[in-house]
Amino acid sequence: MKKILITGGAGFIGSHVVRRFVTTYPEYHIFNLDALTYAGNLENLRDIENSANYTFVKGDIVDAAFLGELFSEHDFYGVIHLAAESHVDRSITDPMAFVMTNVIGTANLLNAAKKSWKDNLEEHLFYHVSTDEVYGELHDPNEFFLETTKYDPRSPYSASKASSDHLVRAYHNTYKMPAVISNCSNNYGPNHFPEKLIPLMINNILNDKPLPVYGKGENIRDWLFVEDHARAIDVIFHKGANGETYNIGGHNEWKNIDLVKLLCKIMDEKLDRPEGTSDRLIHYVTDRAGHDLRYAIDATKLKTELGWVPSLQFAEGLEKTVNWYLANQGWLDNITSGAYSHYYEEMYDGR
Ligand code: NAD
Ligand code: TYD
Repeated sequence: MKKILITGGAGFIGSHVVRRFVTTYPEYHIFNLDALTYAGNLENLRDIENSANYTFVKGDIVDAAFLGELFSEHDFYGVIHLAAESHVDRSITDPMAFVMTNVIGTANLLNAAKKSWKDNLEEHLFYHVSTDEVYGELHDPNEFFLETTKYDPRSPYSASKASSDHLVRAYHNTYKMPAVISNCSNNYGPNHFPEKLIPLMINNILNDKPLPVYGKGENIRDWLFVEDHARAIDVIFHKGANGETYNIGGHNEWKNIDLVKLLCKIMDEKLDRPEGTSDRLIHYVTDRAGHDLRYAIDATKLKTELGWVPSLQFAEGLEKTVNWYLANQGWLDNITSGAYSHYYEEMYDGR
């Protein structure tokens, strides 16, 4: 059985990647390494936690000694690295947490893999999961992020992810570490922590709380259903060319305010509330510092070289997402008023 280490598997995207690999590939043993920060939640993996080919390991990628021991205990065939601090607003209030996990943590992981794989490096693979935010922001509506777009990160979060991408490329170039990188647009779907736009709005509409729209709500994001991202990671892990980068995106751009209004409409219908009820909760609030205007991915390379295209239309993906949150209000309540509530309130008190 090939052992594969997935980091950050208790988080939003990581949990979908872990589930996909555990259920699709019985020939792999999946190790999920996660520090269980505020964003890590083992509830996300209840359905597969007893699978014979799955093991959870609690640990911090900032701890180099711990990683050294883990890699000497197991000969991992590959690493799929998702563990990160992931929220831009938190990176503005606490940038060093992002430097530690995203930069130092990635360097530690590369070092542990390099040391463990030194005798047959070419038989392994380091897959680094990154974001389109490393490319900065777009102004011209006809422009899209390509794999060749110059890096221009503008928040502590995107700068820390850009640094980690550079480290992976440097290890590939210098030490011949077999590596692939993907840069994906904004994800949405089940298990998304309610600090991010879509689940925050769903949660606040449910609880009749104000819907904070930053600035004028004119910023644009390109949304992709999380299971489509997990499938792209699967395809790139198995078919991606060594040393290559692949952009992943949904060709699905939405202005924030239009998306929030759409969510209000869907939720009013689902909750049998008169049309327009939730719109009244919309509040324009002070803009995020350094708020990137627009992200939009050109995923042509992934389509033409590896045959991946998104499978879900946005309407279908949002329907699935809203239905999941309505059916799993206990998951939300646990975060907003239960075990995770102090982390949540730190950022979202009063919203
Ligand atoms: P998330 O915040 O939901 O989950 C991150 C996970 O990493 C959590 O389970 C957390 O416990 C774990 N973690 C954090 N610090 C750790 C540490 N020091 N050691 C071990 N584990 C640690 O994040 P997400 O939204 O699922 O994002 C996953 C990855 O995908 C990140 O690398 C992110 O940059 C990237 N990404 C996210 C998006 C998006 O829209 N969410 C888009 C593109 C790329
Ligand atoms: P977010 O989900 O934090 O993702 P990212 O900043 O990584 O793109 O935010 C998505 C967009 O929504 C972004 O333009 C900021 C905006 N936003 C709000 O208007 N209000 C909110 O409460 C949040 C969390 C985000």
